[in-house]
Amino acid sequence: MDKKLVVGNWKMNLLREEAREFSGTIADLLGEDYDACQVVLVPPYTALEVVGSRISGSTIDLGAQNVFGETSGAFTGEVSAPMLADAGCKWVIVGHSERRHILGETDEQIREKISISISCGLKAILCVGETEAQREEAIRRSEDVLTRKKLLFSPIKTQIESALDSLDQKQVSDIVIAYEPVWAIGTGKNATSLEIAEIHQYIRELLAEIFPGLGNNVRILYGGSVKTGNIVEIMSVEEVDGVLVGGASLSADSFFRIINSVGG
Ligand code: 13P
Repeated sequence: MDKKLVVGNWKMNLLREEAREFSGTIADLLGEDYDACQVVLVPPYTALEVVGSRISGSTIDLGAQNVFGETSGAFTGEVSAPMLADAGCKWVIVGHSERRHILGETDEQIREKISISISCGLKAILCVGETEAQREEAIRRSEDVLTRKKLLFSPIKTQIESALDSLDQKQVSDIVIAYEPVWAIGTGKNATSLEIAEIHQYIRELLAEIFPGLGNNVRILYGGSVKTGNIVEIMSVEEVDGVLVGGASLSADSFFRIINSVGG
């Protein structure tokens, strides 16, 4: 298994000057040779270049928040995987719940994005997670353990199986899964250790089925209201190989403290 991973998803925040300053602060705080965990900064497209140049020479990687499922052509407003690689990205987030639920992204589009990203040399962070209604429905059926588990795992199973469908076994090392329960994103309601453990364990088993012998090497991140106050507990959960951080990655102090907690 590779190093633990801390990914800061800035979403639609920070103008270029703020992004340059902020990424510089993180790079300076970590120093050139930081290697206790892998840090990835994921600014909006407009700030990729300034962040990329500010973190060059550090061990921090650059990532993008989205990608289009074709390499070039008449797709006004979209950005392709080769363009992201050209802009210095090593990583791309695919299937974030805000894209699935606010922008209507489908499992099929997500499969295309994963496939094209990997074939263009990017590492893909596939986001999966259940909605509040899906979790509540599973809880309502908790008198029957098997039904509860089936209902709870079903959205995650569909999202992962569909997204990874076209990958071959060799490409497994370019995939990271981020479990982000939709109800925990930006709400301050993070999942409990038990809730995280149950889903991460399930994802691990599913990956072992999809990639026999290799599924254990895929890192599984947790995301959803990760902050300095809960990072230690989250990282102590088995099968949590890092975190995908939204709001708390926008403050140098809290993001640096999260990185240090993960890196140890
Ligand atoms: P918050 O950490 O703000 O809940 O966001 C999580 C997230 O969506 C990261 O991709």
